[in-house]
Amino acid sequence: GLPARVRIHEVGARDGLQNEKTTVPTDVKAEFVRRLADAGLTTIEATSFVHPKWVPQLADAEQLFPLVSDLDVALPVLVPNERGLDRALALGARRVAVFASATESFAKANLNRTVDEALAMFEPVVARARAQDVHVRGYLSMCFGDPWEGAVPVAQVVRVCRALLDLGCHELSLGDTIGVATPGHVRALLTALNEQGVPTDALGVHFHDTYGQALSNTLAALQHGVTTVDASAGGLGGCPYAKSATGNLATEDLVWMLRGLGIDTGVDLGRLVATSEWMAARLGRPSPSRTVRALGTT
Ligand code: HMG
Ligand code: MG
Repeated sequence: GLPARVRIHEVGARDGLQNEKTTVPTDVKAEFVRRLADAGLTTIEATSFVHPKWVPQLADAEQLFPLVSDLDVALPVLVPNERGLDRALALGARRVAVFASATESFAKANLNRTVDEALAMFEPVVARARAQDVHVRGYLSMCFGDPWEGAVPVAQVVRVCRALLDLGCHELSLGDTIGVATPGHVRALLTALNEQGVPTDALGVHFHDTYGQALSNTLAALQHGVTTVDASAGGLGGCPYAKSATGNLATEDLVWMLRGLGIDTGVDLGRLVATSEWMAARLGRPSPSRTVRALGTT
């Protein structure tokens, strides 16, 4: 069976923009977030409180967050460490996300830490967030393949998932950072997680479309009972610290499929496509989303 409703975790303003070379003005980012909310998205990842040298595009997090924090939607932000948490809490953030890696290579490239050092860095972040009733998402990158290490063993992924839940994360997002997953691999990982005591309702999925598998993988996850799906408006994005990471699953492509399946998301597809076309014009290149191209007017 399939779920009756899916919650889309919109990452366009964070994962989508973090890799853009040209700095997007803060007011354009704010308008992007507001338009996404207006299109019916209810969870909109706004920005990251990371080191500005590591992700220069999101160096304006302090300026951006207050421009959108009045919106009546969940606005999670990424925080790698206590410094990031302090910055986010100072602005009133009520949802944060830490981001771990299933592989040593990516932990080093993305966080300058080993996998276990990164988990140790997150421990006080999660504890302090929880003590203030702040919701914590735990991302886990490279759950299927890694550009340096190749295929990632399921047991390695399960171990870090367990560790993130043991730290106190409320939900996890399983990242296929470089888009190499296929539906059979998705089923195998979800089944292994269940067998190790990780319930499906704690899991979201985060697919990238490098090999054109993102929707197939999403369908496999939905059939397994997953109801939280990450997507990026217009298919923007990629990770600056992962070679060969291309666009995220486009929110429009996801909504098109879910609508066809009779699954409710609350998203107005016309408004969302218009938003992605507007953003594509600001970025100076067309959206890679097939649905945006099919339904768009430009
Ligand atoms: P580091 O160089 O090891 O930092 O970087 P450090 O802890 O040694 O600190 C060095 C200096 O940075 C200190 O300043 C700190 O205060 C400062 P100094 O004392 O030298 O003047 N600093 C900060 N400043 C502002 N905000 C902060 C902060 N932290 C330290 N939060 C660090 C470690 C974690 C900071 C760095 O590696 C980093 O910022 N990494 C972020 C990388 C990133 O954002 N990647 C993209 C997100 S992950 C992703 O996209 C994948 C995902 O989409 C899922 C998927 O697809 O797989 C989520
Ligand atoms: Mg990503």
